[in-house]
Amino acid sequence: MRIGVPLETRPGETRVAATPETVKKLISQGHQFIIQSGAGNSASVPDSAYEAVGATIGSAADAFTAEIVLKVRAPQAAELKQIKSGTVLIGMLDPFDNEAIAAMASQGITAFALEAAPRTTRAQSMDVLSSQANIAGYKAVMIAANEYQRFMPMLMTAAGTVKAARILILGAGVAGLQAIATAKRLGAVIEASDVRPAAKEQIESLGAKFVDVPYETDEEREIAKGVGGYARPMPESWMKRQAALVAERAQQADIVIATALIPGRKPPVLLHSDTVAKMKPGSVVIDLAAGRGENGSGNCPLTRADQIVDANGVKIVGHTNLPSMVAADASALYARNVLDFMKLIINKEAQLAIPAAADDDIVAACLMCRDGQAVRKN
Ligand code: NAI
Repeated sequence: MRIGVPLETRPGETRVAATPETVKKLISQGHQFIIQSGAGNSASVPDSAYEAVGATIGSAADAFTAEIVLKVRAPQAAELKQIKSGTVLIGMLDPFDNEAIAAMASQGITAFALEAAPRTTRAQSMDVLSSQANIAGYKAVMIAANEYQRFMPMLMTAAGTVKAARILILGAGVAGLQAIATAKRLGAVIEASDVRPAAKEQIESLGAKFVDVPYETDEEREIAKGVGGYARPMPESWMKRQAALVAERAQQADIVIATALIPGRKPPVLLHSDTVAKMKPGSVVIDLAAGRGENGSGNCPLTRADQIVDANGVKIVGHTNLPSMVAADASALYARNVLDFMKLIINKEAQLAIPAAADDDIVAACLMCRDGQAVRKN
């Protein structure tokens, strides 16, 4: 099959959906690649590296008119227009964006949104949310260390002792757990909170302290279990008790890294404005949910998408695309996710063979539209 890889055009997007490693593997299986010139530049992959493994370098039109188009982000209107009916599109297409999916459907595209893959063992190697959240969690700590005006580790020097930084992590999914592991290596003292009971053991196994907000009713206990591994919105009563505890812990913290998300919904507000007002000057907040809440906010209402807000000496960092700041590795991992997903829809003869929904739960979950119809409605 002819596989196209266009240059990503969303502002700040530096990743690319295929790397020489994945291109080489697919070419060896009988496929052809058309890479838009410059598609890998910002991920440190020059055109020559793709050519060296047998790909052809071409224009955007060449890449978009292939039989399979590999993208990082959902196509914007101008890109969508270039994709022919019947094309298979694979990317992080945002399964909750019904409007965009309807637009892809009306274009006659068969679109797979990889974020929709179930969180199962078989789907792990193609789990883009995990591969990218892992990077975001790491980079969040790096940015925090950079913005923070003090040391992370405890140091005993001839000029006196420096205290270790105290970090509070809100949300201990893939990003939060990686943030704990990374901050631990830098010598910080870490506390973390999550709504799902399974998170306690994971937090503690990484050497952080679990900030416990005990469940008081059966309803709270039931909702906290989440669904499909994901959190659900907690009842007001629990959120209030959590906010009180977070307020107390945030005042002691030097750095807060907020990563809490609930699929398909606005992020929960965990770090309220009055809590930020009580934090120490010089503290740093990294809000990984930035841009997903009202007015570009995230887990903190003061966050603004892609800005660093100074709230009375507390820096609130709202980068919305941290994986793009680690473009080479983010692309390498994402491209492997894409490659593993492609194995499900391509047969040994290098032809498209999309299994029926009943035969493959991963393909069924990721399929957004086919034959002009949106398959999935949120
Ligand atoms: P996510 O990015 O959707 O959310 C981040 C974290 O925020 C989650 O841990 C969630 O519980 C937490 N959160 C939501 N509301 C909160 C609140 N009010 N207070 C505190 N924390 C709150 O989650 P992510 O990282 O995508 O992980 C989702 C689940 O999938 C996890 O259970 C993870 O262990 C599981 N998983 C399973 C895999 C597998 O078995 N193949 C692979 C990757 C993840």
